Amino acid sequence: MKEKFIIPHRGKVKKEDRQKLKGHKSAILWFTGLSGSGKSTIAHAVEEKLYQMGIHTYVLDGDNVRTGLNKDLGFSPEDRKENIRRIGEVSKLFVDAGIIVLSAFISPYKKDREFVRNIVGDGEFIEIYVKCPIEVCESRDVKGLYKKAREGLIKNFTGIDDPYEEPENPEIVIETDKETVEESVEKIINYLKEKGYIDLK
Ligand code: ADX
Repeated sequence: MKEKFIIPHRGKVKKEDRQKLKGHKSAILWFTGLSGSGKSTIAHAVEEKLYQMGIHTYVLDGDNVRTGLNKDLGFSPEDRKENIRRIGEVSKLFVDAGIIVLSAFISPYKKDREFVRNIVGDGEFIEIYVKCPIEVCESRDVKGLYKKAREGLIKNFTGIDDPYEEPENPEIVIETDKETVEESVEKIINYLKEKGYIDLK
């Protein structure tokens, strides 16, 4: 019923105008992968490179969003779904604002990631699978959470006692146990150049 009385206002300044102003296209770079796979590291390194190229970006990531906008959510399938839905909607707003948004979330469920792909236009969702064997993520254990999960102190930890559904057709695959950060960054930047997202000036 609520939706009936909601009529979005459409301004004269459109996404395309904002993109033209900035001199590059906008899109979501969606980083998915296990905890400790390197999503945030790569996202921030890509952002740094884009910034140096004069491209307007913003990084959204799990631990930050979960201390603010999504601090009411946990890790049940329903909460992870709502986490990704909200982040997807926020990312879509960034795309409308003409920004390249780098969203780094485990996002373990295929259908939640597909939801985000489907709320934006063609080519506006670039799925980047940050692939890394669980043994490697666990040996890195940057936050000490795998140890806690093994001890049973954290339940439903992705990769331990909760699933991770691998992307089937991601636009880009990064293998952080085989590539350097610089190589991964280059791969992503080259993709953006080849597909005409950047270098429009
Ligand atoms: S998602 O599954 O809903 O996409 P998100 O990326 O927001 O997860 O948050 C993951 C981060 O939360 C991890 O990097 C880790 O630091 C922390 N975390 C805490 N509990 C869990 C858990 N049960 N499973 C996975 N990550 C967890």
